Amino acid sequence: MVSSATAQVSGESIFIEGKCVRCHTIGKGRFVGPDLLGVGERYSRDDLIRWAKDPESLYSERKKKPINEGYPPMPPMNLSESDAQKVTDYLLEYTPPPGLSESGTIMGQVRNITTRKPQEGQDVVLVSYMGDRKEERHFAKSDSLGGFSFSSLRWDRSYEIMLFHQGVQYVSGKMVFLPGKDEITLDLPVYETTSSDENISLLSLNVIIYPDDEGAKVNVTSLHAFENSGDTVFTGEQTESDTTTLVFPIPEKAVDVTFSESVNPEAVVRKEEKLYSRLPFLPGMKRIALGYSLPLSQIGEKFSIGFDYEVGDLAVFVRKTELGIRVKQPGAAAEEIMIHNEAFLKYVLSDVKPGSIVAVVSNTSFLRSSLSRYLPVALFFVFAAVGIMYFLYGKNRFSSMDSEK
Ligand code: HEC
Repeated sequence: MVSSATAQVSGESIFIEGKCVRCHTIGKGRFVGPDLLGVGERYSRDDLIRWAKDPESLYSERKKKPINEGYPPMPPMNLSESDAQKVTDYLLEYTPPPGLSESGTIMGQVRNITTRKPQEGQDVVLVSYMGDRKEERHFAKSDSLGGFSFSSLRWDRSYEIMLFHQGVQYVSGKMVFLPGKDEITLDLPVYETTSSDENISLLSLNVIIYPDDEGAKVNVTSLHAFENSGDTVFTGEQTESDTTTLVFPIPEKAVDVTFSESVNPEAVVRKEEKLYSRLPFLPGMKRIALGYSLPLSQIGEKFSIGFDYEVGDLAVFVRKTELGIRVKQPGAAAEEIMIHNEAFLKYVLSDVKPGSIVAVVSNTSFLRSSLSRYLPVALFFVFAAVGIMYFLYGKNRFSSMDSEK
């Protein structure tokens, strides 16, 4: 029965990863959707496959939506035929393990990574959700071993753990009780905070300079990979009236600024020619994208893209267009490469001190447009000159030939 066992495993993982668990329990009661224990007594295997793939076809066949009173309609899950078959067979074969308790428990330990000790007396909040709606909050305090536990939890909810340590918020992400499980165990790491940026480095910076086809503006995108290599949370430096963490220069003329940190608008401040993040920076990596457009007014114009950190690997990509743009600083040789059928100049440097990338809008388009304007006139003169010379020379030659005869 090896094959059936493997089908069971992958059916279960589809049930979990295919997001069915967000809305269904098996044998634990109603959730967003009906309990699916014994669902094979209500539907044929084929109809269950249709539920898993595309409930709309059942709705239109039965001319009823929703089919079960008191529930919303089920959204299409777009599973492949074979995944839908596997998850259906999993539902048909499922039997609840013996000895499962009536309610669930979420427990774990709060560990302070900086002090390498369990965090005692830490307030831990458990938020329960019904679908996307927040339902209830449960509170606990960690014991001398950092341990916390929430019991008597309903199956038909999803849960999230949240805590504040030294003013920094930690959130677990949503959890549900998986089929056949009545416990969730998780460890919550917390860190001490620091205002010093000594462990912060910019590992790589990729800058894409992309002039539009009209040559009216360039779009600049900077992709930063930062690392906090310490075991503390960088919570920032005090500037005038604010506490800020990472800083990003933006040119004065920049318009249409987009910043990946501004998902939460309160997390970002713009002051003069700089953007500041207020978000705490936990140990590990952090990727930040910054984009803006610079209007261009003239040929020969210079613009600079600043960076306030030393950069491990710097790469600048400039799209090749009529409006030739060249990077002047920091000095590196350009290599021509193709990305998605577009030509780019690529400049690569390593261990670059804080500074800026200075680019110059060069004259190629100007040369080309002036050439096209003056070329006919120039050609006319060239032809005229050749014609006159030919006429004079030819006349001489013929006359001398005449004289030879
Ligand atoms: C966003 C929530 C949601 C997700 C995700 C979801 N379902 Fe449903 N499901 C529902 C709701 C709500 C119903 C009841 C709809 C109705 O009666 O028309 C339902 C009904 C069903 C039924 C019929 C139950 C009955 O007793 O009539 C089956 C079978 C089913 N779902 C299987 C699945 C499978 C398999 C997955 C994962 C691939 C899945 N569902 C994912 C919400 C969901």
